[in-house]
Order: sequence, then structure tokens, then C-alpha cells
Amino acid sequence: VKICKTVAEVRAAVTAFREAGKTVGLVTTMGALHEGHLTLMRNAARDHDCVVATIFVNPTQFGQKADLAHYPSDDARDIELLKSESVDIVFLPEVEVIYPEGDETIVETTRMANMLHGLVRPGHFRGVATVVARLFNIVGPDAAYFGEKDYQQLQVIKRMVHDLHMPLKIHGVPTVREADGLAMSSRNVRLSAEDRAAAICISKALDAAEQLAKTRPSIMALDGEVRGTINSEPRATLRAIDIVEAESLKPLTGKVTGPTAIMISADFGGVLLIDQRVVGPET
Ligand code: PAF
Repeated sequence: VKICKTVAEVRAAVTAFREAGKTVGLVTTMGALHEGHLTLMRNAARDHDCVVATIFVNPTQFGQKADLAHYPSDDARDIELLKSESVDIVFLPEVEVIYPEGDETIVETTRMANMLHGLVRPGHFRGVATVVARLFNIVGPDAAYFGEKDYQQLQVIKRMVHDLHMPLKIHGVPTVREADGLAMSSRNVRLSAEDRAAAICISKALDAAEQLAKTRPSIMALDGEVRGTINSEPRATLRAIDIVEAESLKPLTGKVTGPTAIMISADFGGVLLIDQRVVGPET
């Protein structure tokens, strides 16, 4: 695996693959790699000859400096993990490389960035879109891979690529789950044994909602189904259920008529877990 720190280095490494007629898949990360990231790498490797991974803890997507300071970082461990995957190039830039002196250009999906999770984390999706646009411009991949778990992020990036006519394809990769259905997350290890057992109520709620959605219920009934399943678990504190149009993330009323995203966040003993699923009527 080739480690690159500058724009010139990563461009030269990608060009060498391109000149040999290879296609390029990109996975952007902030390090602290886990199985979810490695699944993205494997998807990229399945579709492309050359896989580029980026590790960059992006300061502009953190609201509070304290969050950024506490973000785990272990490049040596991450690089070792990437060596055992089919990753060809790792781009590990310093902040000044991505945000050059005097920098003043931002990218923002004006509506989508400022709703749902964007309301509780102002500026977060602007930071994500800005860094991802820069990484796309630097690497120039044919495709990039993002987890469906961060559903709003995925839709923001798809919208940005479409609106700015960026010449690459965005793939959403299904969430990797534990055997009992709990979405994998680096936060799961912080759950007590009791809360870990209780946390499967989220995927149970999504399973039930998926079944119900097939029958074209009202959005209120769908919301009630999810709420009921989670609230019947005493260890769960429901923080939010958002039921929105799957692509535009627009709020829905009336009946379920097409692809509908259900986004859940719930707290278990102080650990906030999120999950989502796209459901819809049987066609
Ligand atoms: O999902 C992440 O890890 C980050 O938001 C991303 C896409 C790498 C941008 O910094």
C-alpha cells in the first residue's frame, strides 16, 4: 500500500493506475477504522482495480472543538488494517493540505444540510460536503462508497454530486449488523450487557415497520409502530424518529406510497445509537 501525504503524491499514484487502464474506487474515512469501513473497502475492491482510502479527521464537521480533540486517532493501526484489505493507496493529509492558507470556499446542500441531524449539529453537513468535494477533486475516482448507516450524509453527498455535475458514481453500502440485527458501531462496546441486549429493539422496530409499510399504512401508523416497539423496551430512551421521503429527505404526511426512510436515534444508558431503513409498499 502506498501512503501519500500531499495532493501531488496522491495524484501521481492514481495517475499511474489510470495510465495502466485501471478504474479507481474511493473510500473516505476519519480513521478509527472498524468492520463497517472495511466492508466499504471490500465493496470498492469488488468493483474497481485500484482502491484509494483517505484518513482525515475533518475539523470543519465538528461543532465543538472538544469533540474534535477527543476523536480517536491511531494511523499506524488503521494502516495495518488497510494492508490486510485490497487497498492500493492511502491518502493521509495534514489539515493545511485540505484547507490551504486563505481558504474560503465551502460546499453546502442548503436544505438537506439544515434538517434532521443537521439541526442538532449546525454546520456539520456543510463541513462534510466541503471536505468530500475536495477529496473527490484531489483523487478523481470513478466511484465512492459510503455507509447507509449515516443516511443523511449519504443523501447530502448524492445531491452534491448531482448538482455539481461531479463525474463519479456514489454507492450506498448496507449497514453491517451483528448476528442479532444491531447495527455495528464503534459505540456498541460502551453498552452494558443489559443495554446491549435491549438495543436490538431498534432493529426489531425497523423490521416491524418494514412489514407494516408493505400494506401502505399512514405515516402516523408507521410512526406509532416504531415508537411502540422502542418504548416497550424500558432501557431505551427514544430521541428521534424521522420518517421522510427516501431521496429528498422531505417530511411525509398521509400514506406510505413510495420509498420511505425511517431514521431512529435512541439512548441506552447514555450511549446514543442510530439506525435507519428504507421501506415501502409492496409493488
Ligand atoms: O463518514 C465519515 O467518516 C465522514 O463524515 C467523512 C465522509 C469521511 C467526511 O469527513
